[in-house]
Amino acid sequence: MTYDLLILGGGPAGFRAAERAGHFGLKAALFEGNVLGGVCLNEGCIPTKTMLYSAKLYDYAKGGAAKYGVTASEAKLDHAFVVARKDKIVKKLVAGVEMQMKKARADIIRSKGVLAGKNEAGEFVIEANGETFAGKNVLIATGSSAAIPPIPGLSEALTSGLAVTNREILSMTEIPQRLVVMGAGAIGLEMASYFNSAGADVTVVEMLDRIGGRLDRDIATLLQRNYTVRGVKFLTGSRVLAIESDRVRGVKSNGEEFELEADKILVAAGRKPNTGEIGLEALGIELRQNGGIKTDEKIRTNVPGVYAAGDANGVSMLAHTAYREAETAINAMRGVEDAMSYDAIPSVIYTNPEAASVGETEETAAEKGLNVKTLKLPLLFSGRYQAENEAGNGILKFVLGEGKRILGAAMLGNPASEIIPAMAVAITQRMTVNDLAKTVFPHPTVAEILRDAALMEL
Ligand code: NAI
Repeated sequence: MTYDLLILGGGPAGFRAAERAGHFGLKAALFEGNVLGGVCLNEGCIPTKTMLYSAKLYDYAKGGAAKYGVTASEAKLDHAFVVARKDKIVKKLVAGVEMQMKKARADIIRSKGVLAGKNEAGEFVIEANGETFAGKNVLIATGSSAAIPPIPGLSEALTSGLAVTNREILSMTEIPQRLVVMGAGAIGLEMASYFNSAGADVTVVEMLDRIGGRLDRDIATLLQRNYTVRGVKFLTGSRVLAIESDRVRGVKSNGEEFELEADKILVAAGRKPNTGEIGLEALGIELRQNGGIKTDEKIRTNVPGVYAAGDANGVSMLAHTAYREAETAINAMRGVEDAMSYDAIPSVIYTNPEAASVGETEETAAEKGLNVKTLKLPLLFSGRYQAENEAGNGILKFVLGEGKRILGAAMLGNPASEIIPAMAVAITQRMTVNDLAKTVFPHPTVAEILRDAALMEL
């Protein structure tokens, strides 16, 4: 038989593509050698959020709630229980994806698939499990893996278990006494947060002079301050030079060398797209400089009929981007007008407080030479925020373009992850502060601060 679509990979990009294909009556085959759900469901977004929620409750129980007149004695974090609960939730969600695949009538081929060119009928061919499968279209959704920097001693440390990636750290049964985190991106910060709450002595080593990567600078500074108060040590502008037995040796930007003793080292120094050993060369599929598969706004590769969504294309490397890219690719296959836009991709770091942003920041706007105005408001303007965040130092930032159009928003404070999506809508719909001010928000909510900011600009 000839499939309408052959999908390599069962993570967010792959399973969403299969769902949408089924929805529109296209027959898909999905190739996955591991459990469905990809990194996001199994060793990323979901497991970390279940663990971070336990950490937040523990923080309250062990004293954080005292500011609200609530005290408890003998608070305890049962890490093994937290891990078991995480596993249970992951299992449930993976089962949910399996069900969705059935509903979409997608055939799941439980093996890695490899592109093997085209057959005589001009259809794409994928080999898996010693069998061949033919299809009219291909979607490559093979995801990404932890990037391992070429640091002397690191591969030995990964083999011995002293160093771990985002995968292994989620299944550790004990809290290490001293945890060194390499990289202050989303993974590094979220894990630093959990293990700090859980009682580990955490040091974060970051090459750049700031944490949080492209996060708004004010927000990154505040977040770093909050975690420093909680006891996390940050060595920014610092590079790891070598790992020697239980020691991390590095150097600061001023040339000063340092040594850290570690019981565990988390490597969270970025991700690289999985493009090896999947037969890209059989079709001559081109890559970007960062190793991702080159795609256009319709998620097409340079080979007509072949698409690449999610981390594999190396553009945004976020599950929610992957969903939308997969949907765009399916529309392209159906000949329905659609295009992927990366202008309003929300980004959240699920620390406590959460940091979230969408669209332009002051810095990205300046890099593009955009004429913008920025606005900064303390979240203490919000009654609800005050009620629930004693001594909170959260902020909201707006980036406004011509005609006071909303180009970007960033927030530090809970629940920023649930508030920033409103700004993704505003940016996508090209709203101005005027449009936002005319929208009624429920009171009292932290989200009201968005309207307050807009009103100030009228
Ligand atoms: P990242 O690229 O976000 O951050 C890596 C950090 O490591 C950078 O700040 C970089 O400067 C630093 N770094 C690189 N090499 C280093 C070295 N040798 N020594 C010290 N620092 C070094 O990558 P991360 O945190 O590993 O996350 C991977 C991906 O997963 C990202 O695309 C991220 O957006 C996504 N993710 C998203 C989450 C979310 O949305 N909440 C949660 C976790 C991951």
